[in-house]
Amino acid sequence: MLVGVGGGALTDLVGFAAATYLRGIALVQIPTSLVGQVDAAIGGKTGVNLRSGKNLVGAFHQPIGVLCDFETIATLPERERVGGLGEVAKCWLLEGGFAAELNDVSLHDLIVMSVTLKAAIVSADEHEGGRRALLNYGHTLAHALEKVALARDGDELRHGEAVAIGLAFRRQVGGGVGSGRQQRSGATRRGAGLFWSQSSSPRGLSNVITLGSHGAR
Ligand SMILES: NC(=O)c1ccc[n+]([C@@H]2O[C@H](COP(=O)([O-])OP(=O)(O)OC[C@H]3O[C@@H](n4cnc5c(N)ncnc54)[C@H](O)[C@@H]3O)[C@@H](O)[C@H]2O)c1
Repeated sequence: MLVGVGGGALTDLVGFAAATYLRGIALVQIPTSLVGQVDAAIGGKTGVNLRSGKNLVGAFHQPIGVLCDFETIATLPERERVGGLGEVAKCWLLEGGFAAELNDVSLHDLIVMSVTLKAAIVSADEHEGGRRALLNYGHTLAHALEKVALARDGDELRHGEAVAIGLAFRRQVGGGVGSGRQQRSGATRRGAGLFWSQSSSPRGLSNVITLGSHGAR
């Protein structure tokens, strides 16, 4: 049995090793980061990046268990904790919540909400034949930006930060889950604690979005 203890990059890698060693061995995930707990360690998607795109080598391999200790979040660097809120905000919006309300909910409750949502979606659609694709909300641009950032400087953009930008952009140009009203788009950016480049425009980002369609979710 393999046990993955760490952030999402680590649990993705350990999951992939468990999926392929001896054509698959038992796996337990113990995510210690916010992104890991609310997203990466749940649902059985494992993988590693290639230069040509994110997650291009991977497999579906369900863990026999996922253990989350909320106290590990306390030692996360501030940037990782804030960035991780991007995935949390995604779940909150998918659940029909208003971005402006995010600050009123405890982090513990947000983690529980996110885990519950992801587990329910993945249980119904393990291999992303339909509903699971909802979890990719905001991820086309996010993966494109990550790919550009990785090529420049591995530390420039965290996954959660990229997702937060992707969410804001998705709501800006295409409306969002729910009403998609303009004022909610602005609130999304504030509520997720993300950064948003004023110079970014739908036209200027079109090439980046094309890049984003080359990776795997
Ligand atoms: N498989 C999936 O479904 C899925 C979903 C979302 C994200 N991901 C992947 O997850 C990765 C992002 O995960 P992440 O945000 O956890 O980043 P990460 O794994 O790179 O971890 C971020 C940093 O925090 C450190 N860290 C982790 N836990 C800590 C703790 N408790 N205290 C102090 N430091 C700690 C790590 O060592 C690392 O330096 C990306 O590669 C992304 O593609 C996968």
